[in-house]
Amino acid sequence: MITIKNLLSLEGSPEELNLASDENIEIDGSGLIALPALIDPHVHFRIPGNSEKEDWRCASQAAIFGGVTTVFDMPNNNPPIVDSSSLLKKKEEINRQLDEVDIPLRYHLYLGADKDHFSEIRKCSSLVCGLKIYMGSSTGTLLIDDDQSLDTCFREAAKADLLVAVHAEDECCMRNNLSHYKNESSPAIHSKIRSPEVAQKATEKAISLAAKYKARLIILHMSTAKEVELVRMAKARGLSVYAETSPHHLFLNTKAYDKWGCKVQVNPPIRETRDQEALWKGIKEGVIDTIGTDHAPHTLAEKEQQYGCAPSGIPGIEFLLPLLLNAYNQEKLSLRDIIKLCRKKIELIYRIPSNNDWILVDINKEQNLEDHQLKTKCSWSPYGDMNLKGWPVYTICNGRIFNVERKTKDLVAL
Ligand code: NCD
Ligand code: ZN
Repeated sequence: MITIKNLLSLEGSPEELNLASDENIEIDGSGLIALPALIDPHVHFRIPGNSEKEDWRCASQAAIFGGVTTVFDMPNNNPPIVDSSSLLKKKEEINRQLDEVDIPLRYHLYLGADKDHFSEIRKCSSLVCGLKIYMGSSTGTLLIDDDQSLDTCFREAAKADLLVAVHAEDECCMRNNLSHYKNESSPAIHSKIRSPEVAQKATEKAISLAAKYKARLIILHMSTAKEVELVRMAKARGLSVYAETSPHHLFLNTKAYDKWGCKVQVNPPIRETRDQEALWKGIKEGVIDTIGTDHAPHTLAEKEQQYGCAPSGIPGIEFLLPLLLNAYNQEKLSLRDIIKLCRKKIELIYRIPSNNDWILVDINKEQNLEDHQLKTKCSWSPYGDMNLKGWPVYTICNGRIFNVERKTKDLVAL
């Protein structure tokens, strides 16, 4: 049994926890608040194919240190995960790596939509948390860029009652923009090539197909005011349309290019402050349902290349909770909002059973986290210079308790 006493109660959080465990551990929780552990429904842990960027040995530690005990991993691997055999092979390798580091991280996998594998949608529906459709190209080769294939994906997913999760950027619209900016080399151009209209067009298309087939749909990493309005209208029509946003869209904007260059190049791109404001409003009003980090690590060497060569993606799983707790301290959202966005709504939308994982946080602890302290294999982040208030101290995952204060180099289970 793990017993934690004397906890601070805020917004109805418990004063004491008694959790089933093989070990007998008692902790004095004075000064700490217990919150349900977070789910990150959008990560790229890079297995198979790109272990130079990330692997599950490092990423599972990054997750636990970040107060995340469940992740949903994306299929844009090498080879891409488009059928049951690649899915099962991936699972075996993940389990091997998690065993090696002895971290009981919970995970679910996405199936990637692919034009040559439509029949796998139904076959794999009970093995995955959703069907990921790349409507625009990003890292990897997965892409559904014609209307007929997209229609088939929605039809098959609806038949299998499988959640459709879209990367909503319209490939054609993006290519058209690209031709206008061919000779520009500033990273900031990324936000113009992948303009708000690129996202809007794809989101409109996805919502109309969700309506046509009564499919359940989530718009991933939503970044613009326009999309918030589209999802608001879809919900008002009674459609099962949901929305995710990401920490970099909430906490970074186009000003970040000056400092970070291609390091903050991500798809969909960082936006203007008015879009950020619309996202916060969307959270407050329940139009945005979830936050996923889109933890998409690339090596420093890759990200230090010039615009056009550098790949898109930002790592974020270690900063999700501190960024949100810091926002709580700034009165931008409540602890209940955090639990809703990063746990409760995800369980409902993805239909996964609840667990008894918890985090104990010190809401007043202030620090910044430098690159050398990070657990992600890529060892960098664009949040290292932010002094954030509110950090996890313990993470309880699957009956095990980990001290996550970063006092030691490795993750220690008590
Ligand atoms: C992701 C990656 O690198 O896997 N990159 C990104 O910019 N978000 C791919 C993706 O989800 O688009
Ligand atoms: Zn992603």
